[in-house]
Amino acid sequence: MPSKKTEATASQWVLFKRILALAKFQRHWMIIAIILTIVQSVITAFQPYLYKTVIDEVIIPKQFQLLEKWALILLIWLIVQALLGFANSYLSESIAQSVILKLRQYIYDHLTRLKLSFYDKTPVGTAVTRSISDVQTITDLFSSGVITIAGDLIQIIVIMSCMFYMDVKLTLITLTVVPVLLFAANRFRKGIRDTFQDVRNQVAKLNAFLQERITGMQIVQLFNREKEEKRRFDQINQAHRDANIRSVYYYSIFFPIVEVLVAVSFALIVWYGSGSLVRGSIEFGELTAFIMFINLFFRPIRAIADRFNNIQMGIVAADRIFKLIDDVDNIEQTTEVAAPKFSGDVKFNHVWFAYQNEEWVLRDVSFHLPQGKTMAIVGATGSGKTTIASLVNQLYQQQKGDILLDDINIQSLNITSVRQQIALVLQDVFLFSGSVKDNIRLHNDDIDIQKMIDAARSIGAYEFIEKLPGGFDYNVMERGMTLSLGQRQLVSFIRALAFDPRIILLDEATSSIDTETEQLIQKAIDRLLENRTAIVIAHRLSTIAKADEILVLEKGEVKERGNHASLMAAGGHYAHLYETQIAE
Ligand SMILES: Nc1ncnc2c1ncn2[C@@H]1O[C@H](COP(=O)(O)OP(=O)(O)OP(=O)(O)O)[C@@H](O)[C@H]1O
Ligand SMILES: [Mg+2]
Repeated sequence: MPSKKTEATASQWVLFKRILALAKFQRHWMIIAIILTIVQSVITAFQPYLYKTVIDEVIIPKQFQLLEKWALILLIWLIVQALLGFANSYLSESIAQSVILKLRQYIYDHLTRLKLSFYDKTPVGTAVTRSISDVQTITDLFSSGVITIAGDLIQIIVIMSCMFYMDVKLTLITLTVVPVLLFAANRFRKGIRDTFQDVRNQVAKLNAFLQERITGMQIVQLFNREKEEKRRFDQINQAHRDANIRSVYYYSIFFPIVEVLVAVSFALIVWYGSGSLVRGSIEFGELTAFIMFINLFFRPIRAIADRFNNIQMGIVAADRIFKLIDDVDNIEQTTEVAAPKFSGDVKFNHVWFAYQNEEWVLRDVSFHLPQGKTMAIVGATGSGKTTIASLVNQLYQQQKGDILLDDINIQSLNITSVRQQIALVLQDVFLFSGSVKDNIRLHNDDIDIQKMIDAARSIGAYEFIEKLPGGFDYNVMERGMTLSLGQRQLVSFIRALAFDPRIILLDEATSSIDTETEQLIQKAIDRLLENRTAIVIAHRLSTIAKADEILVLEKGEVKERGNHASLMAAGGHYAHLYETQIAE
C-alpha cells in the first residue's frame, strides 16, 4: 500500500501535469523559452572562464596586443547575456499572462453556468478569490517557477562541470558548505510555505470583512457599531500583521545564514588557493574565476527555496481552481430541444421542493393557469411565494412533480429558450452599475432604442426617466443605489416589457412608496399584465382583486383558491390574511 506521503506527491504530480496542460496552446513559445533559458544559463556560467583566459593568457603574460580583441569578446558576451535575459523574462511573463487570460475566461464562463443553489452555499468572496488571486498565483508558477528552475539547475550543472574541469580539489573544497546550505534551504522552504498559507488566509479574511462592512456601512452607522466593528477589524488586522512578521522572520534568518556560508566558502578558497598559488599548482586567473564561480553558483541555490515555494503555492491554488471547475454537479443541465413559441399555459403537478435536503419549502403544489390569465399568490412571509416563481423559471429544480408550459414538461426543454419567454420581476431589484439604458437592454441587441422608449412610454415611466440628468444615459451606481426603490422597480418593469415575454412573474415589493410613484407603478403593472399569462406575488389589494384566481399559500401548502369575493365569503385563511395584512 502506498504511504500517505507518496500518495500526496503523486496527486501533486498529477496536478502539476494538469497545470502544464493549461499552457499547451502556448507550447511552441514554451519550448522557445526553455531553449533561451538553457542558452542563457550556459552563457552566464561560462563567463568566469572567459575572465580566467583573459587574466592568464593576456594580462599576466603581458600580451597586450590581444587585449582589444578580448575586451570586444567580453562586451559582446555581456550584451548577448543581457538580451537573452530580457527576451526570457518577457517571454515567460507573456506565456503566463496568456494562460491566465484563458483560465479566467474559463472560470467566469463556468461561474455563469452554475446553478443558483451553488451560490446559496458559497460566499461571494470565495468565488472572487478563485478567479482573481488564485489565478494570479498560478501566473507565478509559470513566470518564476518552472522555466526558471530549469534554467537554475542547468546553470548549477554547467558551473560545477567547469569547476571540476579546472581544479577538482578546489571544487570539492567549495562544495563542503553545500550540504549545510541545502539543509537550511529546505527548512526555510517548509517554514515559509506554512506562513504563506497563513498570510493568504488572513488576507482572505480581511477582504471578506471589509467587503461586507462597506456594503453594509449604512447599518454600521445607523446602529452605531463603528467602535465594535473597528475592534473586530483590528483583531483581523493584527492577525494579518503577525502572519506577515512570521514570514519575514524566516527570510531574515535564512539570508544571513546563506551569506555566512558563502563567506566561509570564499575563505576556504582564498586560504587553500593562495597556498596552491605559492606552490604554483594553480594560476592566478583560475583562482579569480573560482571566486566568480562561487558567486554564480550560490545565486540560484539561494533562490531555489523561494522558487519551489512558488510552484508549491501554484499547485495549491490550482487544486482549488480545478475543484471548482470539476464540480459538474452544480452545472445547470439542459437539453438541446428548443421551446416552441408558448401561448402561455402554466401547470404545476404535485410539485415538491426543498432548498436543502428534505426541508420542504413547497409541498404538493398544483395549479393550472390558462393562457392570458392572472394568478395572484398570497401568503405570510416565508410561505414559499418567491420560490414558486423561481421554479417556473427553473432557477431551482423541483425534487418531485412536474411543471408544464403549454403541456410540455419544462425540464425536457432547453432552459435558455424557455427563459427567453418568461420575465421575472423580482421583489428586490438588482441593477448593475452603468446607464439606465444598459440596465434595461442588458446589452441585448434585439431591443433597439425605439423599443425601449416605447416600453417606457407605455407603462408611463418615460417622463420620470427623462427628468433624470442625462435621461436614459443616467448612470446608476452599484446595485442601483442612486435610484429610489420605486424608480428601480419602474426600470425593472421597462426591462421586462421590452423583452416582450409570454409569461410574466411579478414579485411585488412590500415596501411602501410615495403615492405618486405608487400610482405610476399600479398603472405600469396593469399594462405589464395585459394579454400575458401572469403569476403575481401580490401585496396590493388592487392587484389581488383583479386576479382571475388567488392561491393562498401557507408553509408551502396551497390552503385555498378562488377569487377575492368567493374567498372572502368562505371566511377562511384568505379572509383572515386580508383582515390582518392586506387591508391595512
Ligand atoms: N436560497 C435559499 N436557500 C435556502 N432557503 C431558502 C432560500 N430562499 C428561501 N429560502 C427559504 O424558503 C422559504 C420560502 O422562501 P420564499 O422566499 O419563497 O418566501 P416568500 O413567501 O417569498 O416570503 P416573502 O413574502 O417574505 O417574500 C423560507 O423559509 C426561506 O427561509
Ligand atoms: Mg418573496
